[in-house]
Amino acid sequence: MRTQVAIIGGGPSGLLLSQILHLKGISSVVLERKSRAYVLGRIRAGVLEQGLVDMLHAADVGTRMEAEGHRHDGFDIAFQGQRHRIDLKGLTGGKSVMVYGQTEVTRDLYDARDAMDGIVIDEAENVSLHELKSDQPYVTYEKGGEKFRLDCEFVAGCDGFHGVSRSSIPADILKEYERVYPFGWLGVLSETPPVSDELIYNHSDKGFALCSMRSDHLSRYYVQCALDEDLKDWSDDRFWEELRSRLPTDAAQSLITGPSIEKSIAPLRSFVSEPLSYGRLFLAGDAAHIVPPTGAKGLNLAASDVHYLSEALIEYYGVGRDTKLKGYSDLALKRIWKAMRFSWWMTSLLHKFPENEGFGDRIQQTEIDYLFSSKAAQTALAENYVGLPY
Ligand code: APR
Ligand code: PHB
Repeated sequence: MRTQVAIIGGGPSGLLLSQILHLKGISSVVLERKSRAYVLGRIRAGVLEQGLVDMLHAADVGTRMEAEGHRHDGFDIAFQGQRHRIDLKGLTGGKSVMVYGQTEVTRDLYDARDAMDGIVIDEAENVSLHELKSDQPYVTYEKGGEKFRLDCEFVAGCDGFHGVSRSSIPADILKEYERVYPFGWLGVLSETPPVSDELIYNHSDKGFALCSMRSDHLSRYYVQCALDEDLKDWSDDRFWEELRSRLPTDAAQSLITGPSIEKSIAPLRSFVSEPLSYGRLFLAGDAAHIVPPTGAKGLNLAASDVHYLSEALIEYYGVGRDTKLKGYSDLALKRIWKAMRFSWWMTSLLHKFPENEGFGDRIQQTEIDYLFSSKAAQTALAENYVGLPY
């Protein structure tokens, strides 16, 4: 088989890239290791920046998001019971975010690819990249016990943190930066009305908690937990009790609980690998970087990579110039590092750090005092939260 762009990974990055390229007449084949049911069963964050919302519309996949998603003009931060609204719209000259689950974005992208006869090969095993430094790279994979070869002109590595693409770049060229946080998030999805119309990020003496949502009747909650926590020890009752104990009184009293329909633990990590390109291979999304979920930048950052990479490929196939392809890594990394800084800052501000006792706790309190009392500080938070320009 032959295509112009071989896309490794059928998560949001890979699917969005293939959809945008298709609309510009550039062919691609997506190779995904897992089954579609597995990919669509993953629960991830659900706050979309305006830039991503605009991209989904431009890619003809915005209709259901517009109908079922909810625009949020602000969110709350509660620090030891004191609650403060961050007025995103007022502070950013009218910008907001869209609350719409990543799982739904992925489903819409799959539907769009199907409707346009896009080729997405699932359960593609042992994907391997070859001749990346030549003009004729190719990809081999296995499916159903048979071996296949996909010839292409470019390879887009959109295969997430555990994918094969990043590790296809020689180790002496790759530079990796990492911070692992000493805690995780225990998340619960429940068919209950959200405790508040807007998200609440909570810091309490017992640790961080987040009240989020997917719709009027579907809530998503998280509590900071130890890394060695065992899900089996977390009954729904225990989760609700822990969450309630971390919320300001009014929210704790109005919290409606119910059976969980999903429960999972995720570690928190900041990670960047540089450069994003090697010969004809270009990395995008989680394949190249991971942010902690505080601030919901993971999917949004994947989208900005796809924005820059698709522009570069469109320029190459449109006018035969490779200037943007050459500049892709540097340009995308500038925005990636800004989101790294923001997610690290929000994580540091709101979590309980075991090593912070004393001085660190007072600095954290002071940072919050400053934030709640300074419009300049809130503006800086708001402009990052709604998303920096591409
Ligand atoms: N071959 C083919 N596919 C692979 C391979 C492989 N060797 N390894 C991983 N994959 C697939 C995974 O099964 C997954 O479906 O690549 C896909 C990568 O998807 P994501 O992990 O969702 O990454 P990305 O598309 O970049 O989306 C970024 O998703 O993970 C969240 O927090 C992240 O919100 C961010 C967004
Ligand atoms: C979520 O709804 O899952 C969510 C929202 C905001 C975040 C992280 C996760 O910062």
